[in-house]
Order: sequence, then C-alpha cells, then structure tokens
Amino acid sequence: MRRSRTRGLTFFFLISGAYAFGTINEPNVIGQHCEHERITRVALGCPLGVTVSDGRCFEEESLHQLAGRSGPAGAVGQGSNGAVGAPDMLDPTPEGPEAHCDNADFLDSPKYPRTREEATEQLQTCVNHLRLRFLEGIDAANKIVDDDARIILSEVDITRLDCRFSFPELQMHVFSRSKCSAIEGFGRSLHGVQDFYAHSNWADDAKPPYTPENPPGLRRSDYPIFLDLRAENNISEQVPYNLTTGCFGGVLTDGTVGKPGNPLEPGSQDCSGRITHGALNKDNGVIDEVTGLTKQPGPNTPRSDFRDNFERAVAGAIRDSRRQWRHFREEIRRTYGVQRGNMIICGLVRDNPAVDCYGRKVAILRDAPSDNNRMAELQMPRHRWLLEELEGRPHEEGEGEGLTPQNSTKSRGASNELRQDAEAEPQAEDDVSEESPPVSEGLDIGNAVEKLLRNNTAFPANKTAVVALTNASEKRLIEHLPDIWRAGDAGLRVHIGVLSPAGNTRRYAPREEDFMTGVLRTGGTYSVLHNRASIPRFLDHVISRGLTQYDNAGDTETLLVPGLSIRDFVTPAMEPRRYSIDAHSIDNAVISVAPITANLGLHVRVRHVRTNEAVEELDIGLGGNKTFRVELGIADIPRTDAWFELEVAHARGSNLAGGGLFEVSIEAESVDMDHEPASMGHDEL
Ligand SMILES: *[C@@H]1O[C@H](CO)[C@@H](O)[C@H](O)[C@H]1NC(C)=O
Ligand SMILES: *[C@@H]1O[C@H](CO)[C@@H](O)[C@H](O)[C@H]1NC(C)=O
Ligand SMILES: *[C@@H]1O[C@H](CO)[C@@H](O)[C@H](O)[C@H]1NC(C)=O
Ligand SMILES: *[C@@H]1O[C@H](CO)[C@@H](O)[C@H](O)[C@H]1NC(C)=O
Ligand SMILES: *[C@@H]1O[C@H](CO)[C@@H](O)[C@H](O)[C@H]1NC(C)=O
Ligand SMILES: *[C@@H]1O[C@H](CO)[C@@H](O)[C@H](O)[C@H]1NC(C)=O
Ligand SMILES: *[C@@H]1O[C@H](CO)[C@@H](O)[C@H](O)[C@H]1NC(C)=O
Repeated sequence: MRRSRTRGLTFFFLISGAYAFGTINEPNVIGQHCEHERITRVALGCPLGVTVSDGRCFEEESLHQLAGRSGPAGAVGQGSNGAVGAPDMLDPTPEGPEAHCDNADFLDSPKYPRTREEATEQLQTCVNHLRLRFLEGIDAANKIVDDDARIILSEVDITRLDCRFSFPELQMHVFSRSKCSAIEGFGRSLHGVQDFYAHSNWADDAKPPYTPENPPGLRRSDYPIFLDLRAENNISEQVPYNLTTGCFGGVLTDGTVGKPGNPLEPGSQDCSGRITHGALNKDNGVIDEVTGLTKQPGPNTPRSDFRDNFERAVAGAIRDSRRQWRHFREEIRRTYGVQRGNMIICGLVRDNPAVDCYGRKVAILRDAPSDNNRMAELQMPRHRWLLEELEGRPHEEGEGEGLTPQNSTKSRGASNELRQDAEAEPQAEDDVSEESPPVSEGLDIGNAVEKLLRNNTAFPANKTAVVALTNASEKRLIEHLPDIWRAGDAGLRVHIGVLSPAGNTRRYAPREEDFMTGVLRTGGTYSVLHNRASIPRFLDHVISRGLTQYDNAGDTETLLVPGLSIRDFVTPAMEPRRYSIDAHSIDNAVISVAPITANLGLHVRVRHVRTNEAVEELDIGLGGNKTFRVELGIADIPRTDAWFELEVAHARGSNLAGGGLFEVSIEAESVDMDHEPASMGHDEL
C-alpha cells in the first residue's frame, strides 16, 4: 500500500530497518530485501507452473495481498507491503514489541538483569498477541460464504482494488472485504512467527564464551510447540531454558552493545547489559523467492556472521509459515464446519473464487441394480445433496438452490447416463481373466472412471469424484484395481464405503491392501461402515477429506466420525496423518488405532489442541490395537467441548515396513452411568 510510503518516508525506513525481517526492497541504503515478502512467497506461493491452488498455496493476486509485492530493487515507494508486512507499517506507528517477539531476553548468568520468568512472560505476551491476530482472521473469514456455503462475491473481489489493511487498534471487519480482513489477521500473525526465527536464538549456532553480545544458540530445527496459535495455554513449561530474543532499545539505540535509551525517541528503553536486538537479529539478507535459499546475510547483523545462521532462520520461518497456514485452515474448518470451511478456504486462496470454486461432477455408485448408478453435476459438495443421491433420490434438471447458475447447486446430467452407456458399450467379458473373481455386484467403477475422464473440458479430473457404496465383500473389490490406478493418475478422487458385515480384525491379502492403497492414493477415502445408519457419517468423512482435489488438500486434519472404520496410509516421507475429534459434555470419545500392514510401526499421539498438551503418546507395533479415551476436562467446561487431535506417524525401526495402511475408528461413550456405554461392536446390517 502506498499510503504509508508517501508519508514520513525516512522515519518509516528507520523503524522498519530495525524492527524485523525487512518488508521493503532497498538493499543499498537500508539493507532490506523484502524478506517477509520472499519468505511468504516461498512458503505459500503456488509452485512454478501451477496456477490453480489446491488450498495449500495462494494464487497470484491473492498472494500479493498476503505477501505484498515489491518494486524492483532500490525502487522505493512502489508496490505494496501486504498483510505480512502490515505490523511494520506506520499506522500511525508500527505494532509494538509483542508483534515481533522482542524483549524476551535471557542469559544463563547470575549477573544477567532479567530472569527466565521475566523473559518467558514477555514471550507469552508475544504469543498471546499473535493468537489474537490469528483469531481476528478466523472471525473475519465467516463472511466469505453465506449459510449455504456460497461465495459472496463482494467479500472476495480483489480484482479492482488491492486490500487495504486497517489501523491495528481500529481493526473492524465490518468495513472491509471479508477476504482482506481474514488475510490481514493471518498475515499479521505470520509476521510475528517469522520474526521469532530472526529475533531469537532458536535455530542459531554460536560458540562460547557466551555473553550478552554472544548468547548461546539452540540449533533447533523443529517447530516451537508454543507457537501453535490455535492453543490458549500458558507456555512457561514449553520454553527452553536458554531461549532468548533481543531487547529492542529503539531505532536510534539498537546496536551490538546495549546502549541507554535515547530520551528523544518515543518508546525507547534502556537495554544496558542485555542481549540486544542488534546483537541477535538475522533480519537482513537476500532470499531467493522460489527456492528460499539465502545469500549475502546482513548488513548490520553480526549474528549472521556465524555460518548459516541467516539460512537457518529463514528456513525455519518458511517451514513454520506453512504450518501456520495449515493450522489456520484447520481452525476455519473446525469453526465453520468442513462444508462451509472448504469453500471459505477456496475463497481465500483463489483469485476468482466466484467462478473457480464451483462445478463438480460425481459418479454415485451402488450395487445392483445398476440403474441406481448415476452421473451428476453439482456446484459444490453438499452433504444433503450427496445423501439424497446415495439414497436413490436423484436431483433432476432444475433451478437449483442458488440464485444464479454460478452459485446454485442444481444437478445437471441425467440419472441414467451411466446405465445407457453401459448398455451401449457393454464391458468386454474377455477383459476379465480366468483367475479374476466375478464382477462384483454391479459396482461399475471402470465405466464411471471412463466417463468422468472422457469429457474433461468442462470438468477437469480434479473436479470429479466417484462415491461408491457397496455390499460387496472387500475380497471382491480388488478386480477394480486398474481403474483405481487410472483414476489416481488422472487426479480423480475415489471414495469407497463398504457396507460389510464381516469383522475387520482379520489379515488382508496383499492385493486387498493394494486396492485400499490405490483408493487412498487418489486422495479419496476408504472406510467400512458399521451399519446402514452410518451412511450420513460416511459422507461427513468424504466432505471432510474433500470430495474432489479442489475441495481440500491432503495435509489438513480430517474429522473422525463414529460409525466407520477409516483406513488410511502413512510413509516416512509424509507428514503424520491427523484427525480432529471433539469431546462433549455428554459423551467421551473412544478412539482405536491399529496397523493393517504387517510390520508397520506407528507413532501415535493424541493432543488437546487448546491446552497444547499431548495426552497420550506411544508406539503401536505389529498386530497392535490401541484404544484411547478422550473426555471433557474441567478446563473445557466454559467451552462445553474439547478439541483433540490424533496424529498417526510412521515409526522408524528395524524390520518395520517402509509405509503402510492402518485403521482408525471412534465411538461415543455415554458418560451417563445409568446407561450402558454405547456399543462398540458392529450392528447387524
Ligand atoms: C486441475 O486440473 C487442471 C487441468 O489439468 C489444472 O490446470 C489445474 O491446475 C488442476 N487444479 C488443481 C487444484 O490441482
Ligand atoms: C450468487 O451470485 C450472484 C451473482 O454472481 C450474486 O449476486 C449473489 O449474491 C450470489 N448469491 C449468493 C447467495 O452467494
Ligand atoms: C504462567 O505460569 C507461570 C508458572 O506457573 C506463572 O508464573 C505465570 O504467571 C503464568 N503466566 C500467566 C500469563 O498466567
Ligand atoms: C544453558 O546454556 C548454558 C551456557 O550458557 C549451559 O551451560 C547450560 O547447560 C544451558 N542450560 C540448559 C538447560 O540447556
Ligand atoms: C445392499 O444389499 C441390499 C439387499 O440386497 C440392497 O437393498 C442394498 O441396496 C444394497 N446396498 C447397496 C449400497 O448397494
Ligand atoms: C461434456 O460436458 C459438457 C458440459 O456439461 C456438455 O455440454 C457436453 O455435452 C459434454 N460432452 C460429451 C461428449 O459428453
Ligand atoms: C481395534 O479395537 C477396536 C475396539 O475394540 C475395534 O472396534 C477395532 O475393530 C479393532 N481394530 C482392529 C484393526 O483390530
């Protein structure tokens, strides 16, 4: 935004130069190379050649709002700073030390003027501030879609005018576009997270002797647990003893050696004898905006003279920016539900959401008779719509529910499209080899995949899906493996719900595992329904995972719902699979996790998100099956619910498989002692 640039330029440069990873591009005099912008672009820009976001990255114009867009080097007064730069802007003053994690300094020395407790308290102030900004963003996002999850164009339109970010103290979402306010809250919190790496010794290396000019480095490459901004806890137990940030004296007194504050400078403080921002910061240097690699650290950052300290700070800031965006999406999905939440996220990352977030094509498959099968178009994933389709109540041509074709959910496509084609071009019988089991009861995945991939101009494969519900035994599904691989290669998601009365504690044949793996590889879901009443829950699971690739990226936590045994997959290279669980005052949640693949070891952790604590953490090995109970604690009572997160990661070890399948399920257990706990077995179908 030009506003601040054309006003009080000199002062702005000075403040900005001293405060944070830089926000402007003026390498020669000020020594800044828009570090925040470049970190944000590396972390959250779409990869080269990708112009359509799957939710993880921001498309070009939307990224400009978040990251800012600098002019060419040296050309000050051009471009804009973006939401991530907003805390450094003169609005009328930049945000204070709490927005940059300054003044949380501590050195393990008896003479040091500040205690560990004082430093931690200051860090808590920073974390609380960033949590507040994060929540402001979540609150603001609510208006991106209406109650029926339709994009509200006026709230997301950035084609004519860039976002304007408001004065922090006056931040009122009523007056600005919802998308802009949401990006502002998120961007301001991202600023502080990135600064934490530049202003602290978290990732640093250093050599003794340790003094206020040369504090120790923690050499950490993991995420600071206390920077999970979804949490609400007191962080004091989570802060490493030797963690420090720098005391920021003021623009004119920020230097290597602590100088007394300059009385002429508003807000300056005396940093004598303390670790200063000047001594510790790694704010400046050149960052490649595609690879994130760094060079030429400095000027005026003595701490970057230790080899790779700037590189480590930048790498940490990039990785954590991605984590923060995942957390932001997870909190949106939890706050507004996955159906609205996915559309809100679409509205945030896409440049033209009022068009691009719409349009899906789905094959709904059930067992014979095959005229139950149906190919249908809908504007966006709707639980009720999908349920009606699965129950055999198709939606015919019509007005639909929205006001215009863009945002209605009307179904186009004829109910019998699949059947007609199957009759016109019967599947060649000789495709089925001698050894193959007979074609399973009418679940014609091959035909559906063929049809969905054939007409892909209006609906690219990644806007299509197969949702199949079947009585067929799992053994008989494997014949569809080639179709499933074809779907996965093309980007078409396949969701399979098995209405199988068979218990699931048996061992699977390798080809059955291949089939499940193939389905999960499409990005879809595979689950065994405990009874017919679980069909709506199955659809919750499908929408939570994302009906198509447009609907949810694979990195977010998905909702764990009762009534299903959910199959999933981990490898050592992947982030852990994560599931979100809510415990309420009337039920406890009982979660079971079990490896399916022989020799698969799992590392499982259950975390209480708001208190930011692991309540269970253990390894589950061969043939194991571990059950956890999560319940509402005393501290959750004001909220009436408690958010838990189950993380399932691959465990390393000798003789363990390199990756594989596991099963997870959840049941509600009534806490009312007069009643039997809810049955955990499988009901009769
Ligand atoms: C979907 O596929 C189209 C066409 O192949 C491609 O241009 C687009 O980037 C893909 N979108 C996503 C979100 O993967
Ligand atoms: C549907 O789209 C039209 C035009 O694109 C817009 O005027 C209307 O507000 C939208 N309705 C909803 C509910 O989003
Ligand atoms: C956090 O806990 C520590 C140690 O129990 C306590 O000293 C501190 O006052 C607490 N901070 C807040 C903000 O409650
Ligand atoms: C903190 O750093 C000092 C060196 O300044 C070291 O001796 C001490 O062991 C460290 N303490 C912890 C808990 O790591
Ligand atoms: C399962 O079988 C029953 C009885 O044969 C049938 O009514 C039902 O439609 C089948 N379910 C599916 C999903 O095909
Ligand atoms: C492809 O889809 C478009 C849009 O739904 C439709 O108009 C067209 O008839 C389809 N073409 C074929 C060959 O099915
Ligand atoms: C694990 O145990 C739970 C609860 O007893 C059961 O419902 C589930 O089927 C078991 N899973 C496996 C794979 O053994």
